[in-house]
Amino acid sequence: MKTYSIVLAGSLVAIAAMALMAGSISGKQAEKEAINTSPVVKETGFESKNEEWARYFPRQYDSWKKTKNSDTIDDMLAKKPQLAILWAGYGFAKDYNAPRGHYYALQDNINTLRTGAPTGPDTGPMPTACWTCKSPDVPRVMAEEGENEFFTGSWARLGDQIVNSIGCADCHDSKTATLKITRPHLLRGLEASGTKLADITHQEMRSLVCAQCHVEYYFKPTDYTDAAGQAKNAKVVTLPWAEGLSGEEMEVYYDGYGFSDWTHKISKTPMLKAQHPGYELYKTGIHARRGVACADCHMPYRREGAVKYSDHNVGNPLDNIAVTCLTCHRESEEEFKTVVKQKFARKEQLEKLAMDNLGKAHLEAGKAWESGAGEAEMEEVLQLIRSGQWLWDYAIASHGSFYHAPEETLRLLSVANERALQARLKLVAVLAGHGIFGYEAPDFSSKEKAQQLAGVPLADLVNEKMTFKATLVKEWEETALKEGRLHPDARKGMSDYSSYKNK
Ligand code: HEC
Ligand code: HEC
Ligand code: HEC
Ligand code: HEC
Repeated sequence: MKTYSIVLAGSLVAIAAMALMAGSISGKQAEKEAINTSPVVKETGFESKNEEWARYFPRQYDSWKKTKNSDTIDDMLAKKPQLAILWAGYGFAKDYNAPRGHYYALQDNINTLRTGAPTGPDTGPMPTACWTCKSPDVPRVMAEEGENEFFTGSWARLGDQIVNSIGCADCHDSKTATLKITRPHLLRGLEASGTKLADITHQEMRSLVCAQCHVEYYFKPTDYTDAAGQAKNAKVVTLPWAEGLSGEEMEVYYDGYGFSDWTHKISKTPMLKAQHPGYELYKTGIHARRGVACADCHMPYRREGAVKYSDHNVGNPLDNIAVTCLTCHRESEEEFKTVVKQKFARKEQLEKLAMDNLGKAHLEAGKAWESGAGEAEMEEVLQLIRSGQWLWDYAIASHGSFYHAPEETLRLLSVANERALQARLKLVAVLAGHGIFGYEAPDFSSKEKAQQLAGVPLADLVNEKMTFKATLVKEWEETALKEGRLHPDARKGMSDYSSYKNK
């Protein structure tokens, strides 16, 4: 990493010099000053306000701000109603959308029905850990409070602190502007999986900054004593990497100490929820093996006159095939779009089979309990459901896996489907033992039907959320503006869509 700092410091000066020659941005006085001095955004700590970085790095800032254009809501529960059955009893059955631009990370965290409708700093269903991957205010608050202290209390406690969406200080050092891992959980995860931090290369950093968030994690309960000598418990974001990064290895890790995220409402299975193991799956694909980094595809270089810079509008690489894929490949744009479409269609087909079978397994298990089945009879069934659903979720939760690692994604989906089918076969026998023959699970082919079966009180959740947004969320924003943590322009012109209002 050391060598890298030197390279970047040098290239910043070069970039600034080229910028001057280009002339097109001659008004940018601060950038000119950068010729003789490497610009320092902030001498110590973290500068969370993206606007403060803009005067030295206008191109990176302007392109970062374009993530604002990716604001369409893609309601996954409407598209794949099986999801509400698979997650019955868990927050994701309430609301789950495909990812949007980095500019909206914080808004989506506040808008999702999963974070509930707190009425004050100590209420609501979620811990502070839910902010971890949404904002450069996170490393700032960790530095100010301490990491365990950050991970203590309810999500709402930090509502007026975590106010800037994913930005510069998530991936860059505020003093040197070099790439930086700002989340301690990634450093610990890498060490647990056997990586020597000192050996990390510049090219690896171009993926690891993304791996701070696009990874699998869980909240590990951690006891500590605070500054006042009080015994406290923190819920610390932790990567389950000690056994390895594959789906099966993480399953061993979680099984190893009987961890479960929740108990399924219908089948009573102790479940695991995959978050978004995007980095882990990418590592199994051909591009990673050939050293192609996340930034190579998602942040291609751009030219503006004589200036070369990284496009910070992190989005779909297929929107810029000429500067992403075709910098290495010789095929035509058409060919590439066809290849990616095929990979997606193959994944969708296997995913649907797995979800249908897992959904039916949950409902049939529910029927078995209802008919008087006992724990011993159900044990194997529940283990198959837990394992199958974990592997299915691990395969698809990161959205891009069908492209990043197509073979591994399809393999996992096949194994997941097989486990679900095994569970269903055993359930036929369990049900027969209790006098039930030919049972057919109820229809869950729409979001409404599936949420009803899962017992989601949608109308109430939406009403509470709208009140929360009109009251506490407004207060958070006002406080952050007044106390200087949020730039007055940061949210100008920001749309406000959700799965339940203004779609
Ligand atoms: C601080 C956490 C964080 C970091 C660092 C991060 N991401 Fe993200 N990323 C997110 C979150 C959260 C979302 C979803 C935002 C939403 O839906 O509101 C997201 C969304 C995305 C999307 C979807 C964008 C769209 O418009 O559909 C892509 C692609 C993506 N990230 C790639 C990357 C890449 C590549 C990197 C590294 C260069 C990276 N991310 C670094 C948290 C992060
Ligand atoms: C999700 C992580 C991420 C975020 C957020 C991010 N950057 Fe970057 N940035 C990168 C990566 C990766 C590179 C490529 C670095 C390299 O390989 O030299 C980069 C490169 C740069 C460079 C070096 C010149 C160049 O363009 O390649 C500057 C300067 C920079 N970013 C500034 C910013 C500013 C300003 C912001 C906020 C508006 C920002 N970055 C937000 C990941 C990020
Ligand atoms: C070889 C190029 C390539 C590399 C390397 C790559 N991606 Fe992707 N990524 C893609 C393509 C292509 C898609 C599919 C875009 C689509 O069809 O929506 C995608 C999709 C995604 C998505 C889903 C976006 C959405 O809106 O559904 C995320 C998130 C993402 N990538 C993050 C990452 C991260 C993080 C890394 C590194 C760990 C990475 N990508 C490495 C090409 C790449
Ligand atoms: C930095 C260079 C680089 C970039 C950028 C890149 N690739 Fe690749 N790609 C490779 C290499 C190297 C291989 C492996 C070739 C081999 O070993 O045969 C590969 C393999 C592939 C393969 C065949 C393997 C498979 O997974 O089926 C496809 C398809 C592919 N790339 C598509 C894309 C697409 C689409 C993009 C843009 C989103 C892209 N590549 C961007 C370097 C790159």
